[in-house]
Amino acid sequence: MKLLFAAGLAAVLAFGVAHAQQPIVIKFSHVVAEKTPKGQGALKFKELAEKKLPGKVQVQVFPSSQLFGDAKEMEALLLGDVQLIAPSLSKFDRYTKKLQLFDLPFMFDDIEAVDRFQSSADGKALLDSMKGKGIQGLAYWHNGMKELSSDKDRLKRPEDVRGLKFRIQQSDVLEAQFRALGANPQKMAFSEVYQALQTGVVDGQENTWSNIYSQKFYEVQKTIAVTNHGVIDYMVITNAKWWQGLPAEVRKGLAEAMAEATAYANKMANDLNERDRKLIADAGKAKIQPLGKDDLAAWRKAMAPVWKKFEGQIGKDLIDAAQKANK
Ligand code: LMR
Repeated sequence: MKLLFAAGLAAVLAFGVAHAQQPIVIKFSHVVAEKTPKGQGALKFKELAEKKLPGKVQVQVFPSSQLFGDAKEMEALLLGDVQLIAPSLSKFDRYTKKLQLFDLPFMFDDIEAVDRFQSSADGKALLDSMKGKGIQGLAYWHNGMKELSSDKDRLKRPEDVRGLKFRIQQSDVLEAQFRALGANPQKMAFSEVYQALQTGVVDGQENTWSNIYSQKFYEVQKTIAVTNHGVIDYMVITNAKWWQGLPAEVRKGLAEAMAEATAYANKMANDLNERDRKLIADAGKAKIQPLGKDDLAAWRKAMAPVWKKFEGQIGKDLIDAAQKANK
């Protein structure tokens, strides 16, 4: 009897110890390739988090929409099926209208201005703007400025896209942007874009050099115009309840790993986009169309009506604060 009791106790203790040693599994899902700013940032976060919290956390990174694509990732985060995602700032309008700010055409002069705004008090406050919906923003990660591409030879002036079909991200602002140009926007998940371009379901799209290269869009587009008319950046988000429920030392370690991974990803975003721009040029498949001052002014003018349309939803104060980030 005594023996049985002792064996039972030992088993309970062993289970308890084994149980206590189980690392917390953190799934980080995203939609882009590994050799992109976001792909590299996610891997760096894994490395740092596991180093800072040995045996306590295990980070599993799932790139290229392998685990969840655009359509499902937010829902999966809220259901607890994934703990970290980093959607582009264009994909949040079901949760907050404020982030639509980042989609206003020609809002920011360059990625440095985007960075200045994100680092400001107004920018940081947006990380907490979806708490009521169960979403906690942890960091902004850069990708870069967007370029416009199409399957036509001419892509210099706004009139060149009239009547063409463009794939857009899940964003009403981007929809209005293409409508202002007289083009036909179509919302579509990132994982479907290559095929849609290849089969002619759409004529064009807008994206960063790293996405255009890693998704091979340049192989199925004739021209890429250097418009820099908008930005594709990310908010790394987590489930607010899960985050608050973590042991304090784990949350602290993860927050530190996130801050370091953010600095790393943001530092290399420009380089990766520059590298991919060169690779696209070297491949000689799509023509890279530089634009002059007059051309850019024409694009800016054609897209300008979008600002007024969304000012009420975004808030004039926020737009003014973002404009201050342009020097
Ligand atoms: C897109 O959907 O075009 C991109 O924003 C995907 C991404 O996450 O960079």
